[in-house]
Amino acid sequence: MKAVALLVAAGSGERLGASRPKAFVVLAGRPMLEWSLDALRAAGLDDVVVALPDGETGYAGVRGGATRSESVRRALAAAPPSEAVVVHDAARPLVWPELFGEALRALDGADAAVAAAQVTDTVKEAGEDHAVVATLDRRRLWAIQTPQAFRRDALERALDVDDGTLAAATDDAWLVERAGGKVVVVPSTPANFKITTPHDLQVAELLLSSRSSG
Ligand code: CTP
Ligand code: MG
Repeated sequence: MKAVALLVAAGSGERLGASRPKAFVVLAGRPMLEWSLDALRAAGLDDVVVALPDGETGYAGVRGGATRSESVRRALAAAPPSEAVVVHDAARPLVWPELFGEALRALDGADAAVAAAQVTDTVKEAGEDHAVVATLDRRRLWAIQTPQAFRRDALERALDVDDGTLAAATDDAWLVERAGGKVVVVPSTPANFKITTPHDLQVAELLLSSRSSG
């Protein structure tokens, strides 16, 4: 299946609190998004559209939107024709190339296939009073990551919603689910974590500096 990649890098990185948008913070010597661009290239995904924040020049791409899904929608509109689309967050620089192919192959029999790590903690549901109401079966719980691969027609249909619904989506696969599409998880590990806080950035710095020095 011919695939294009969308790299969403247009967020401001409020929780990281750096002086520039998160995807452009220098991580182990290079802007964060370059680690993902390398992994995409190593996976053989040569058609990549990057969703960029306002004011970042020096990279080819499109201007992102006010929400993550709006950035996906804009990047998709600028992508060359394809049967499949793989969406990846620039905030996951530790991704490895094989994961893209695994997600794309899992589209055989599904509308979307999302990288996910099986939950290792016990997860309980509690009310506002902190009283526990349920202990969930963790064998069935997955923490969702990117890459997320889609049949392009399914993603286009899923993104064709009003702005409120689009803004409520924390991932694009949810939009496919609510449109009645079949979504499957692709086993990944917590090593593909998302950089959200300064602590995450410190951990990624340690891991990626040892990677580049061999
Ligand atoms: N993203 C985007 N456009 C937006 C919001 C987010 O392209 N309007 C991208 C981010 O650049 C990131 C990914 O979506 O690669 C995941 O989002 P998140 O980790 O929440 O990043 P930020 O929104 O930048 O961070 P914060 O929520 O702390 O501001
Ligand atoms: Mg955000």
